[in-house]
Amino acid sequence: MKTSEVRKKYLDFMQERGHVIVPGSPLVPENDPTTLFTGSGMQPMIQYLLGTKHPQGTRVSDSQKCFRADDIEEVGDSRHTTLFEMLGNWSFGDYFKEQQIKWMWEFLTKELKLDPNRLYITAFGGDEQAGLPKDEDAPRVWQELFSSVGIEAGIADMGSEEVGGKRGMKDGERIFYYDSAKNWWSRAGVPENMPAGEPGGPDSEMFYEFTSIEHDTKWGEHCHPNCDCGRFIEIGNNVFMQYLKQEDGTFKELEHKNIDHGSGLERLVAATNDSADVFTIDVFQDIIKPLEQKSGKEYSDVQYQASFRIIADHLRAAETMIEEGILPSNTEQGYFTRRLIRRSIIHADKLGVPAGELSNNHAVKAEELQFRKTLEKGLKEFNKIKELEGKEITGHDAYVLFTTYGFPIELTQELAEELNIGVDIEQFKKEMQKHKEESRVGAEQKFKGGLADTSEETTAYHTAAHLMLAGLRKELGDGVTQRGSNITAERVRFDFTYSEKVERDVLDKVEDYVNGAINAGASVVVEEMDKEAAKESGAVGAFWDKYPDIVTVYNIKGSDGTVYSRELCGGPHVESTQDLSKFGKFKIKKESSSSAGVRRIKAVFVAE
Ligand code: ALA
Repeated sequence: MKTSEVRKKYLDFMQERGHVIVPGSPLVPENDPTTLFTGSGMQPMIQYLLGTKHPQGTRVSDSQKCFRADDIEEVGDSRHTTLFEMLGNWSFGDYFKEQQIKWMWEFLTKELKLDPNRLYITAFGGDEQAGLPKDEDAPRVWQELFSSVGIEAGIADMGSEEVGGKRGMKDGERIFYYDSAKNWWSRAGVPENMPAGEPGGPDSEMFYEFTSIEHDTKWGEHCHPNCDCGRFIEIGNNVFMQYLKQEDGTFKELEHKNIDHGSGLERLVAATNDSADVFTIDVFQDIIKPLEQKSGKEYSDVQYQASFRIIADHLRAAETMIEEGILPSNTEQGYFTRRLIRRSIIHADKLGVPAGELSNNHAVKAEELQFRKTLEKGLKEFNKIKELEGKEITGHDAYVLFTTYGFPIELTQELAEELNIGVDIEQFKKEMQKHKEESRVGAEQKFKGGLADTSEETTAYHTAAHLMLAGLRKELGDGVTQRGSNITAERVRFDFTYSEKVERDVLDKVEDYVNGAINAGASVVVEEMDKEAAKESGAVGAFWDKYPDIVTVYNIKGSDGTVYSRELCGGPHVESTQDLSKFGKFKIKKESSSSAGVRRIKAVFVAE
């Protein structure tokens, strides 16, 4: 099957079962400071999983482009990609486990006609430490479905991935329990890593067996669904999103139990073609075939296969990012676009693709020119280092070549090899690890800094931010729009468009406006309405062309009818501004320039 066919079959299937098909979100998430990229279909749905009403109802489905930066180094094998499309369906407090599993069975075995004899399932074996019980239901439902086609599906306890590799699979076993590292899903990973306010749940993954692949013991003594040899490939995951992590570290059940299902479109397509190699599907071959011609090399030649795969994945990802406006740069998201293109160029050179012929994309071509200049400089630096060091390139030098000169480690190694000198790879890896940890600390701070935390304080600051924007617009005019915000339990940081310094007396008036609304005990009323109508009614929004047709508007309204704020938003907010008064008086501490035409305010509640 073709990629477009499988996508259509899935969305039609879900639509026939009462789901509203919604457009996917951008690759760079809006209002989600927890991550640089959308890495799963559920990320844009988080507030609805937490209980906010979705404007389209309780059943939605989509195809979401996802980018997983962590997988860059994995690309080159038969199935890892950085960019992929996730087919997803959600139940927001509507149907649950049994219905979801039955639909998946029907979709995989009837719509896609995958062989049930080659379908394997995993489920959550419980987590004693976190007080989370084993999932007894999912395996039972799967067992019944297998039994309906004459397959007696045995259930086995595997424990961890490592233990599973020692134990292997016994005859007749088809459903396997694993620990939380494998069968628990949340944005933050395992239960113990989840911050308070984060939803998560046990999951049940579906694997397809590619019988052409022989298990290789380098991956573990025995094969099992979670083995990395490539015989079993995960084709989808059903998350039973039913828990919320609490401040005291324990879990409580969400008021509404949700389903979060995601399947990798590319892998599903490969399965329908009985190909264990995801790069054989149309969307990758469209990139690979012309490169075979330009290079005179063949994809089937094992010595070139990894390079073809890396280019196919990286180019597709980079071009998708460019389409979404993420141009190559040295910071944040653009850094990945840059890295993907640069790695593609290195591998195109390996294949012998002539310079400049990798892609017709304008931005890719421009990046190639720039990279070739950098390479020249890097080469000079490499030669200097070589003169100094003589026998070996130290790990630190390799690291500097990589981070400062954009010189990929593969290239350093290759050049060193030609000259018969070594590279201290172990030390290089250590330096990279240190670098990664430092960036992770940065990311964690960002996580805490965002609205992803739904504590009472943070929610209060969020509502106050709405009032502040309304106050700013009242004082400075409707030209003022929000540019971004970063809200913690301690403060709100708020960026908005305005070309000059805002004087203290104006800030005082804005503070008065916010405190006035707080003292009035205004209610926060949510309204769902047609986008155009919302626009006409004067609701404030910053991304009109990106919003869906039906939007959610938060009104802050006094009992005397005064409308203090009217803004498009996904929540969460307090119910009444009275809830803010217990934190004290709203105070703008600082106003400064953020970038050209953008000002930044830091504001806090000060206890009275
Ligand atoms: N959110 C789940 C996943 O990404 C479906 O695996």
